[in-house]
Amino acid sequence: MSEQKNYIDANREKMLNELFELLRIPSISADPAYKGDVLKTADAVKKSLLDAGCDKAEICETQGYPVVYGEKIIDPKLPTVLVYGHYDVQPADPLDLWTNDPWDPVIKKTELHPEGAIYARGACDDKGQMFMHVKALEVMTQTGTLPCNVKYMIEGEEEVGSDSLEDFLRANREKFSADVILISDTGILSNENPSITVGLRGLSYVEVEVTGPNRDLHSGLYGGAVANPINILCQMIASMHDENNHITIPGFYKDVEELSAEERAEMAKAPFDLDDYKKALDLSDVHGEKGFSTMERNSIRPTLDVNGIWGGYTGEGAKTVIPSKAYAKISMRLVPHQDSDKITQLFADHFKKIAPDSVKVEVRPHHGGTPYVSPTDTDAYQAASEAMEETFGKKPVPVRTGGSIPIVAMFEEVLGLKSILFGFGLDSDAIHSPNEHFGVFNYFKGIETIPLFYRNYAKMKSE
Ligand code: BES
Ligand code: MN
Ligand code: MN
Repeated sequence: MSEQKNYIDANREKMLNELFELLRIPSISADPAYKGDVLKTADAVKKSLLDAGCDKAEICETQGYPVVYGEKIIDPKLPTVLVYGHYDVQPADPLDLWTNDPWDPVIKKTELHPEGAIYARGACDDKGQMFMHVKALEVMTQTGTLPCNVKYMIEGEEEVGSDSLEDFLRANREKFSADVILISDTGILSNENPSITVGLRGLSYVEVEVTGPNRDLHSGLYGGAVANPINILCQMIASMHDENNHITIPGFYKDVEELSAEERAEMAKAPFDLDDYKKALDLSDVHGEKGFSTMERNSIRPTLDVNGIWGGYTGEGAKTVIPSKAYAKISMRLVPHQDSDKITQLFADHFKKIAPDSVKVEVRPHHGGTPYVSPTDTDAYQAASEAMEETFGKKPVPVRTGGSIPIVAMFEEVLGLKSILFGFGLDSDAIHSPNEHFGVFNYFKGIETIPLFYRNYAKMKSE
């Protein structure tokens, strides 16, 4: 549909500048100091939806940050697509590792992005990808090609676990009724090898506290005679993987879905080069569970990882001390059929059991999330696949990713709807890291491909 393409080509500068405006607002949901900016971003998203052609857009209050809702209902008899995205972003630190101000987007050319990439916090996750949908709506309304109804749910707490969204969703089932959910918050294999994400991992996240003596002690006077909680915590954590890198928590693998040899062979067909992978991360070797490939390790297998560990003296110079306390934050990525609450409980029981009598331990659960798999034999998947095939010139392959978007399983539970994970980012986009970026190619590829999904989906639904 060259009319759409012409509109996009004629409005490239405008579409980049509007995204830049959104990227300039530091909508960090994790840090209360940015509350005003998070709310300001919600307002900006609402305005952009109205400008793009929504008949109605509103800020919906929740227990936490608001959800921005928008809709354009052209005919109640036609199918409805619900678009989900998030306008909150991760904190930008460590700031000194950025090559530009994370809140002042710039375009830089790189080897992977000869057309340039937009460098800013949220460029890919998820402001850039969410905004592709807003611009795609503009393309369709401006060219008179919107073929079905559309609703938008853009939330502001994804990066902190979407805590308020479940209650909000349950209380507003009717408002979000639709035929399918469309989400761009994942990626493709590469710009030459498009893919559609058909699996997300779930999550259990805990914080642990280990207490030794009731106060910090002189490490000479007491060293050797009392438990050092940091030493103990490290031993406990180390014991949670065996020599094959299997997780040792009893029952941890009980519900894990085992893929058939055929499914694994199918997965192995996706283009993946281990040498490139190592090179991109400056690694001489990879690491992981025995018996599984790198792609399998980060998609169909569960994990246990320390995300942060602290305690004792970490300032300048040396201080001889045995600390009273040690802490760690630990994430477990889960795969289909593992239950987040159950895994958190297994972790807590095990952690308490392996703690020696010389320390006291506490386990505090954080947010969790259910894993998700999506079928490929649906109209919606077909519509997405054909849209990508048209714009990339190559049929996308289905892949499971290692990341988590907990609301996706919730959508299925509460609304009974499957989601199409129609992401256009790359693993190398450095989401959550310094120098996050999003290819200009990827941004416009998304804006170009999304309307084709609508066209294909509406056509299939009317047949
Ligand atoms: N967009 C990501 C998830 C993602 C990224 C999935 C790339 C697949 C490919 C999302 O914003 C995210 O960061 N999710 C968190 C979940 C958490 C905060 C509950 C994650 O995966 O750590
Ligand atoms: Mn995201
Ligand atoms: Mn994220």
